[in-house]
Amino acid sequence: MKNAYLIEFKSHGSQEDGFLTAIEHNTGLPFDVKRVYTITETKENNIRGFHAHRHLQQLIFAVHGQVDIYCEDITGETFTLTLDSPKYGLYCGPMVWHTLTYHHDAILMVLASDKYEELDYIRSYNEFLERRANL
Ligand code: TYD
Repeated sequence: MKNAYLIEFKSHGSQEDGFLTAIEHNTGLPFDVKRVYTITETKENNIRGFHAHRHLQQLIFAVHGQVDIYCEDITGETFTLTLDSPKYGLYCGPMVWHTLTYHHDAILMVLASDKYEELDYIRSYNEFLERRANL
């Protein structure tokens, strides 16, 4: 999917010593980061998200635990994947409807290309489908 895909970041280290994973432009970060936020203390199987962004680009990491993510782009293409390692980030660009199912010990970290702006959200799935119909 053009606007949502997994990026693998290089890890340095070993099972004995631990791993260091750096996230910067030369290791695959696709945009300038203007905001970082975390989501913590979610209950098992709690589902959040249920929106798309008009312009925002994000890179989503499960820095601990597991999060299952569903993505649907404006053409109707879909995928689901599981994030369970900070070595992988899910790039989620504009116009991707997404939901995230959290497992109880998950810690989500999101790098975002812009400041928080509620007007950038499409929170109505019907509005998202209308956009698809008008492509
Ligand atoms: P939201 O993006 O809807 O979270 P989720 O998709 O995980 O359900 O945001 C939840 C609330 O937090 C909403 O009231 C907006 C607020 N918020 C901020 O104030 N700043 C931020 O950077 C973000 C992402 C959300």
